[in-house]
Amino acid sequence: MLTKKVEEFCNRQIEREGYSSNLYLAMASWAEAKGLSGIGAWLYAQSDEERAHMLKFIKWVNERGGNALIPEFKKPPVKYKGIPEIFAEVLKHEQFITASINEVLEVAIAEKDHATTNWIQWFVKEQVEEESSAQQIIDKLNLAGQNGVYFLDRDIMKLRDND
Ligand code: FEO
Repeated sequence: MLTKKVEEFCNRQIEREGYSSNLYLAMASWAEAKGLSGIGAWLYAQSDEERAHMLKFIKWVNERGGNALIPEFKKPPVKYKGIPEIFAEVLKHEQFITASINEVLEVAIAEKDHATTNWIQWFVKEQVEEESSAQQIIDKLNLAGQNGVYFLDRDIMKLRDND
């Protein structure tokens, strides 16, 4: 059984994972409309993963005797400056999500909720991967210089191989 506090923080995370999904969906659509279908495909796949993260939290809350609430989501930006700016934003957003997951974990520990403390380790590990894949893309863009966006669009889906 979740305590009220753990339930509240898990519900906050449901909103944050759902917003992440919509944010990456907005970025995917923007990239695709610019003709960058490879980068768009990566962002669509990322959006799907975030929806799966939201669902994991929904299922966990309900399974543990809580009530998962489906919130309203803030509208993500519709315009982006460019691909480097998008990936800088992805990394910044993932760092925010990592901090948020750590807060849920800290609340679970404080509330002596060993089940949630154990369950959420999957997300702790996932966040290491998410930050590192965003960083990897930024590094590749920086290395490739002027034609970086072109090469990234061509090759980015290969970076998802170990997902
Ligand atoms: Fe679900 Fe990318 O954090």
